Amino acid sequence: MLNIDKIQTVRFDAPVIILCNSENINTLTEGVLNRHQIEYIKECYSTKDINLIPFNDFDKHVLVSIVKEDEIRYKTAEKYRRAGAKVLSYLDKFHVVDAQLDSPCSKDMVYYFVQGMLLASYVFDNYKTDPKACIHPFDNLHVRHPEVTMQGLDVLRTVVQATEKCRDLINEPPAVINAETLAECFVKMGQEASINVEVWDKAKIEQEKMGGILAVNQGSTIPCTFTIMEYKPEHHLNSKPVVLVGKGITYDTGGLNIKPGDYMNDMKDDMSGAATMASALYAVARLNLPIHIVALLPATDNRPNNNAYASGDIINMYDGTCVEVVNTDAEGRMILADALAFAKRYDPCVVIDAATLTGAAQRAIGPFGIVAMHKDAENFMECLKASGKRTYERIAEFPFWEEYDECIKSDIADIKNSGESYAGMITAGKFLAHFTSYPYIHLDIAGVSFNNKADFYNRLGATGYGVRLLVDFLETFKN
Ligand code: BES
Ligand code: MG
Ligand code: ZN
Repeated sequence: MLNIDKIQTVRFDAPVIILCNSENINTLTEGVLNRHQIEYIKECYSTKDINLIPFNDFDKHVLVSIVKEDEIRYKTAEKYRRAGAKVLSYLDKFHVVDAQLDSPCSKDMVYYFVQGMLLASYVFDNYKTDPKACIHPFDNLHVRHPEVTMQGLDVLRTVVQATEKCRDLINEPPAVINAETLAECFVKMGQEASINVEVWDKAKIEQEKMGGILAVNQGSTIPCTFTIMEYKPEHHLNSKPVVLVGKGITYDTGGLNIKPGDYMNDMKDDMSGAATMASALYAVARLNLPIHIVALLPATDNRPNNNAYASGDIINMYDGTCVEVVNTDAEGRMILADALAFAKRYDPCVVIDAATLTGAAQRAIGPFGIVAMHKDAENFMECLKASGKRTYERIAEFPFWEEYDECIKSDIADIKNSGESYAGMITAGKFLAHFTSYPYIHLDIAGVSFNNKADFYNRLGATGYGVRLLVDFLETFKN
């Protein structure tokens, strides 16, 4: 994580980033830049559309970044984030470790730019043994802006820190993150942020008869866990808690319906939902937001060993529903169903789950947004969509028509764990909704949680997509 502080004046003998937009580029005055350089910048931008202009005098870098603002504010915000990421990669390339940021832009835009730099500065290098392989030397940013505050910068850092925690949990290999160690990580996060954490072990899960979690865990040599995190600040605005539920499949082989070819490759990311929810709660607690929130995080890996559950099995779930297993690779909904049924005891105002649930969601809209559905949660959904725009972690709402309920009816049990060949993301959502009795939002993050190539402020690997979205939603939460 970059160190950031505020400065009153810019030193001319150290690297400087100058951030401007298409308008205030014309008001640049001499100082760090001389008259010729200012003319050159305007020329480059107006005639060649170049938006990143470096001036190097040995190791004294001056970097001018120009953002062309959009008419739509949230799109402009994203442009600033991406500009921040681009500047960071330039600084890293030239091994600059320290730079000042000076800008005539508004404070909000400067914050977005800094956020882009922070998000882009993440690296997962726990397993790089060669110190020279360090790809991110840049470390210290000094911000000069009359309205940017240290407090504002700290809020940014806290949220990005939470995003980094989420990314780390996902990027760690499955031999490191299993149901037990994942729960330990949640306990640690709870200690750091003063959140109450209770971890149920397999014996307790058996005692509670959480049949869905236990069924998926049958093929594993590592016992399942169920983590309950509760953040209840003295002054909270909501009389009924918000409950967050996250899928914690620490590795998804598919089970006996084993994943063929390279479909198994990134399946360490199948606990992204749990990581996202825990990390969002971690940020909220560290920001002392006045909202009562509970996170429910069921975890196990899904493997074909031992006495693995099989298609044809009928599982008696936590709420008593009998589920016909038709595909062991539809395991996420099995563990989430028990957590969602358990959530009823909190009498929640809304429950939101996040899960890398279906390849169908990924195929439908790719890496550009979250596939979402809701039941009786129209207003919360609208707020979440607005947060999605502000954070550029966008929500695409899919239909949740009652016709889809037919798709998961079973001949021999109440419901089955997979539907028709079409609309897989919706029937998965319908399966989950069966276990709910409160306003409910389902977020399928299969397309966004893990990148196979770097983009803007995300490197290859885990993105932490959803953490900023949920923090924004909870920051602006209205009952
Ligand atoms: N974890 C997968 C979904 C997934 C796929 C996440 C690709 C990220 C990228 C999930 O458990 C799964 O296997 N879903 C099946 C469901 C099917 C068997 C009904 C799928 O989508 O193929
Ligand atoms: Mg699966
Ligand atoms: Zn899965």
